[in-house]
Amino acid sequence: MVFYFTGTGNSRFIAERVAEILGEKATDISTYIKENKYGDFKEEGTYVFVAPCYVSAPARAMMDFIKNSSFPKGIKAYFLITAAVYMGSSPAYCKKMAKKKGFQYMGTENIVMPQNYLTYFKTKGIEENIGIVKSAIPEIDKFGNKIKEGQMLTDKKIKLLEIPFTELVCIIYYNLFMKTKQFCVSGDCISCGKCVRECPYGNISLKDGKPVWGKKCTHCMACINRCPKTAIEYGKMSIGKPRYPGPTEVLKMDK
Ligand SMILES: Cc1cc2nc3c(=O)[nH]c(=O)nc-3n(C[C@H](O)[C@H](O)[C@H](O)COP(=O)(O)O)c2cc1C
Ligand code: SF4
Ligand code: SF4
Repeated sequence: MVFYFTGTGNSRFIAERVAEILGEKATDISTYIKENKYGDFKEEGTYVFVAPCYVSAPARAMMDFIKNSSFPKGIKAYFLITAAVYMGSSPAYCKKMAKKKGFQYMGTENIVMPQNYLTYFKTKGIEENIGIVKSAIPEIDKFGNKIKEGQMLTDKKIKLLEIPFTELVCIIYYNLFMKTKQFCVSGDCISCGKCVRECPYGNISLKDGKPVWGKKCTHCMACINRCPKTAIEYGKMSIGKPRYPGPTEVLKMDK
């Protein structure tokens, strides 16, 4: 089984390619998140978890889903983490989670995909992002084929203070920086509702045709990046920065 969490589609792109290699369908965990429920999975065999790296760790949405869902003991668990630069301590988190759940840990790999965190980082233009997505494809296929053959992926050693240090940074970050107060919408909004549909947390509603943000946000950046009219800003931090509509969308723009 292949599960993914995504903001701007990079993890979906990876999960769907790997699922195709395995002859399966990928499952978006946002369905579970929106309904506030977890899974009770009975199928034995191989499980692949795909998620973005947030603050040097796998997105909490995925870790919470794994922690709270039930799986058969001893399943083979593979982790694919997509990051704009590097996945940091993610392998340590995945290995620890696998141990806690009684999974057979099969390793964690990093797949570099376009940067989507436009509020705090510099995002790239379409041409550069097309190049990044194209370079990722052989990597994704290589890992997908390894998984199909039942091979181990990289099994990185956990350093002594790796998780506590990252965890401290994550606690500060998730609590102080992942806020919605600064999201705002301009007059360019056409009330299409895409931001509402794209939010994996079901955190956006339309009021008088304009988006309103609730407090349940993980800063996945789907709303701000995927608005077809670039009508969403995050205070002054996002002004003038290129939006990243997602891998499938940028590949369609490739001439
Ligand atoms: C809240 C947040 C934190 C991020 N932290 C990191 C990071 O620590 N290292 C990194 O290389 N990329 C980081 N990124 C970039 C994403 O991991 C990267 O763009 C990823 O491919 C997005 O995947 P998605 O489209 O499936 O959401 C971060 C992005 C967000 C939104
Ligand atoms: S996606 Fe953009 S245009 Fe559509 S409702 Fe949301 S803010 Fe408005
Ligand atoms: S409100 Fe926007 S940034 Fe926050 S979780 Fe929803 S789509 Fe992602």
